[in-house]
Amino acid sequence: MLKIQNLSKRFNIGTVNERIALNDLNLTVREGEFITIIGSNGAGKSTLMNCISGVERADSGRIYLDTMDITRLPEHRRSRYIGRVFQDPMKGTAFDMTIEQNLAIAACKNKSRGFQKGITKKDREEFRQRLSLLGMGLEDRMTQKVKLLSGGQRQALTLFMAVLSGPKLLLLDEHTAALDPGTAKKVLDLTDRFADSNSMCTLMITHNMSDALAHGSRTILMDSGRIIMDLKGRDRDNMTVEMLVEQFDIANDRMLLK
Ligand SMILES: Nc1ncnc2c1ncn2[C@@H]1O[C@H](COP(=O)(O)OP(=O)(O)OP(=O)(O)O)[C@@H](O)[C@H]1O
Ligand SMILES: [Mg+2]
Repeated sequence: MLKIQNLSKRFNIGTVNERIALNDLNLTVREGEFITIIGSNGAGKSTLMNCISGVERADSGRIYLDTMDITRLPEHRRSRYIGRVFQDPMKGTAFDMTIEQNLAIAACKNKSRGFQKGITKKDREEFRQRLSLLGMGLEDRMTQKVKLLSGGQRQALTLFMAVLSGPKLLLLDEHTAALDPGTAKKVLDLTDRFADSNSMCTLMITHNMSDALAHGSRTILMDSGRIIMDLKGRDRDNMTVEMLVEQFDIANDRMLLK
């Protein structure tokens, strides 16, 4: 479903601040696969997602999504295939618009029908019914502005909007890092449900190593712009956070061990 070949990206080329963010990186993701991504600060995790979504353009290498070569496709044209959620709950929603207006925009992403047609009664009913599945009470607040929601409610809504139009790929960049542990767990549970429910691929960056091993079916570790560990199957089932730390010496920054 997603194939990344020899992807490289450097920043500030030719200056003292030159940084190699991606170094000849290769990754193939199968349909429906849910991969967690870990790695220390500056390992290139966010840059990888930025190159996949078209926010950044790689210096070299190719990116294929479902047989389409998207390497040179502009970000707005990729966005119909790719849903994203970031760490900051303020991003990803239009905070001065209502929940249902936000949902209507998200639902239109993949369709030729424009937002200007407005929200029909049928749309409203469908949104209400699907929102109730999130278990956050948002179905009773559809005409309220998003800025009134808590961080966790907003992240749940952003996640819901990211998958609403049925993307091929879902990119999550530390999307629960700014939430308290209880809310983070709720949003992660939702993530599991969405990732499970269709053929979409999911890539989730986390600095919480037990979350990385507990969610999805494959974990990759990035370092200096490369993938230095790719864990799945029985090897992953048998892996513990302690063993990861011991083998890869990665307990040196803000990664959470518990
Ligand atoms: N827009 C940018 N301009 C200059 N350098 C950048 C830019 N974005 C990333 N970098 C550099 O590229 C490297 C990879 O950064 P990236 O943000 O991808 O790391 P990360 O793995 O997401 O780290 P973190 O865990 O801190 O989020 C780092 O050295 C970083 O300083
Ligand atoms: Mg990052």
